[in-house]
Amino acid sequence: MRHFLRDDDLTPAELVEVLDLAAELKAAPYAHKPLEGPQTVAIIFDKPTLRTQASFVAGIAELGGNPMVVDGNLAQIGTRESIADVARVLGRQASLIVWRTHDQSRIDEMAAYAGVPVVNALTDQFHPCQTLADLLTIREHKGDRPGGLAGLTMTFLGDAACNMGHSYLLSGAAAGMHVRVSGPDGFQPDPEILARARAIAAGTGGSAEIVLDPEAASEGADVLITDTWISMGKEAESSDRAEVFRPWQLNEDLLARGADDAIVLHCLPAYRGKEISAGVLDGPQSVIWDEAENRRHAQKAIITWLTR
Ligand code: CP
Repeated sequence: MRHFLRDDDLTPAELVEVLDLAAELKAAPYAHKPLEGPQTVAIIFDKPTLRTQASFVAGIAELGGNPMVVDGNLAQIGTRESIADVARVLGRQASLIVWRTHDQSRIDEMAAYAGVPVVNALTDQFHPCQTLADLLTIREHKGDRPGGLAGLTMTFLGDAACNMGHSYLLSGAAAGMHVRVSGPDGFQPDPEILARARAIAAGTGGSAEIVLDPEAASEGADVLITDTWISMGKEAESSDRAEVFRPWQLNEDLLARGADDAIVLHCLPAYRGKEISAGVLDGPQSVIWDEAENRRHAQKAIITWLTR
């Protein structure tokens, strides 16, 4: 039984398969019905969402399935009853379980007991569905070149210790990209995840590095990315972070250091004037609305791939 709990659950070759499938499903959104029946997919949220809920619900319906949204606040998974028992129950109702939750250990436990594939819709450590959508978006805008994504430089600016920083390291390395993550002191990726990304990159011709200086990190980048400085659960640190992170704001100055045809990604929700300037977010190099749409196509692909 395969799950998609972190980016490196797909090998580099499997990542290409899933991205190819996503492009195919985007071109013909209603042509494939692997969940015909309809089969039910449980989608559980322990944290706020807009894009993830909307794109999974719409995508599962397009695949011929029945999306069953479960409110994590009502279910109180791990408090009202154990994660293992919830997994056993939902695994008898659904063909696949999607979960947005807190620590990665929770979704690992869900996967161990569910008896059906489990997909990570964001944990504190990873957001692999977002990076699948991002790679699809980069491929659409940049991939029409020998090697596809391989050899492109992708820079992530901001909280490099957060789930997005980790997921870009792993997924970018698998795609053969040169991944740079850049954040203030104390906001660096988990060393084990950086080492894992480097091991993957050794096999794909990519690279994974921490570049502390945001200007150096942006130099020549083909893709410039940021995310909110205040990840879910870090709201109490909001005012301190605004000051510390200021030099990492993705603004016109940093964008000018990127390649002339650099594109800008942001997984959203965005805070204009904080982690990104309004001019960059709403400017001609931004592809964020394609990125938001691609959540649906990428997630349809991973569901199709896992249940095939
Ligand atoms: N990017 C993302 O996961 O959006 P939501 O938090 O709104 O689902």
